[in-house]
Amino acid sequence: MSVAKEEQRSKKITTHVLSEMKMKGEKIAMLTAYDYSHARILDKAGIDVILVGDSAANVMAGWETTLPITLSQMIYHGASVVRGVHRAMVVVDMPFGSYQGNSKEAIVSAIRIMKETAANALKIEGGAEILDSVNRILSAGIPVMGHLGLTPQSIHKFGTYSVRAKQEGEAKKLIEDARLLQDAGVFAIVLEKIPAKLAQEIALELHIPIIGIGAGGGVDGQVLVMHDMLGINQEFSPRFLRRYHNLYAEITGAVSNYIQDVKSCDFPNEREQY
Ligand code: KIV
Repeated sequence: MSVAKEEQRSKKITTHVLSEMKMKGEKIAMLTAYDYSHARILDKAGIDVILVGDSAANVMAGWETTLPITLSQMIYHGASVVRGVHRAMVVVDMPFGSYQGNSKEAIVSAIRIMKETAANALKIEGGAEILDSVNRILSAGIPVMGHLGLTPQSIHKFGTYSVRAKQEGEAKKLIEDARLLQDAGVFAIVLEKIPAKLAQEIALELHIPIIGIGAGGGVDGQVLVMHDMLGINQEFSPRFLRRYHNLYAEITGAVSNYIQDVKSCDFPNEREQY
């Protein structure tokens, strides 16, 4: 690899770098991680952005929704990820209940996450309804990533995880919310589970990067939940998910072999003891 290419690969990803990537038409690759060891692997593999998603509530803690995860738990996951990362930008999700109440609560939560995790940015779900909180966080110099479309923290309001913004009225509101967030100063927006055509229109109109999950290929980057794309989690199979591995089967096989070796006294052998 040339020195220039090597430098490019090791350059820390900032909001500025992401904006340059959009301008150059270079796609942004983002994945979730929740702990030091996985974050280290993702970072070394060259991922651009690591999201410490509140999906930790589902894949790490086994909750049905993302609502139960607390601010302190997000801080624990965020700080663990940051310790494993050199190059990727680390974005931490603000959990349900830490910013919706009022903007004062939002800034206190945001500052706690930034101070106690050393992350690079925060992600926050919603549009016009949470604009005061977004403005207050941005005014403290904290970069904010928006999240529109399917917003899992509002699952009890919508009732299903189905595709959002298929109707004209909802699509119009989503476009307006995306414009509002951009005007406020967010550096990127995640669009979750919306029609590909609508997502592409937004990505073409807005100058900030648009990262999709179930939003088609016409956006500036993609994000997936690591457990889903590695096949650790077998129960979740939406159309947008591409599985790159079957870690569930790999781990089951390895654990079965270990059990067999212990039971048969094959492990440990002569060389594996003192
Ligand atoms: O929490 C999460 O993992 C997310 C992604 C699905 C975008 O918000």
